[in-house]
Amino acid sequence: MNAIDVIKKAQANKTIVPAFNIPYLPMVKPVIEAICDEDCVAMVQVARLEWEKFESKSLEAVAEEYFKYYDPDFTLLHLDHVPAIDEDLQTVDVIPIIERALDAGYQSVMVDGSRLSLKDNISLTQEVSALSHSKGVAVEAELGAVAGHEKDGIGMSYEELFRTRKGFTKPEEAKQFAKQSGCDWLSVAVGSIHGSIAEGIRDQKKPEARLDIEHIAKLKDATNNMPLVLHGGTGISQSYILDAVQNGIAKINIATDIRQPYEAAMKEYGDIELAREQVYLKTRWVIHDFLKITGNRNLIG
Ligand code: 13P
Repeated sequence: MNAIDVIKKAQANKTIVPAFNIPYLPMVKPVIEAICDEDCVAMVQVARLEWEKFESKSLEAVAEEYFKYYDPDFTLLHLDHVPAIDEDLQTVDVIPIIERALDAGYQSVMVDGSRLSLKDNISLTQEVSALSHSKGVAVEAELGAVAGHEKDGIGMSYEELFRTRKGFTKPEEAKQFAKQSGCDWLSVAVGSIHGSIAEGIRDQKKPEARLDIEHIAKLKDATNNMPLVLHGGTGISQSYILDAVQNGIAKINIATDIRQPYEAAMKEYGDIELAREQVYLKTRWVIHDFLKITGNRNLIG
């Protein structure tokens, strides 16, 4: 499968591709098994913060685990958030990490220039797009601020964030970004928030998020139908997700939903196989009950 084609088909068929994050290497196997058992197409992904702050070790370690268990008819390997400025406001050298992912067999990569100015975000995304496209690899970028990975979580109540539309992607900027950056998919801020990752708050339940569906439709128009990506997929009120899929969202990232059951089982039993079972069951639940996409491989695979 080619990642660009899959996501385009998902958007055209009004379905969605989930991308499951891997903060612990033993999670790869049950995630892949669940995807195959639900007969859908989905991504296995890792973000830089998951090898820096959790236990996925490196993007190469995740790729190695992935290639032990993957099935090319069902699964794709994606590199999630490589931030130019990370959640601790440290500058990151993005290009060498992208180059490592291209060498390791990733089929798509995300460059996250969302903490840069619009101009710098566009030029970094152009550089990553030229490099990745020369290897046939798809590129996701981010515009606007999907909050939550910072030390203090979202730093305000969810209600205040949604009411003030803080960090929401601006349609006029999205239009310019889609024309100039060279990326294939755009992660947008439209109401979802990332699950907390800071020590001490990472096991908390996420507030139930909503989405501004009209805003999503505006962004789809502004970007001339560029496939849009929803980060912070855990805990969004379900009816909003289903509406978002009808309005241009083609990929959704899920991390907290499958991380917390793994951590809880490890804490209670210290047994990797038991923890894997929890991840398997939750991944099936996300696909079958939450996103309702069981069997969509025949539409997009
Ligand atoms: P959640 O932790 O809310 O599922 O968000 C995942 C995500 O967006 C990773 O990029």
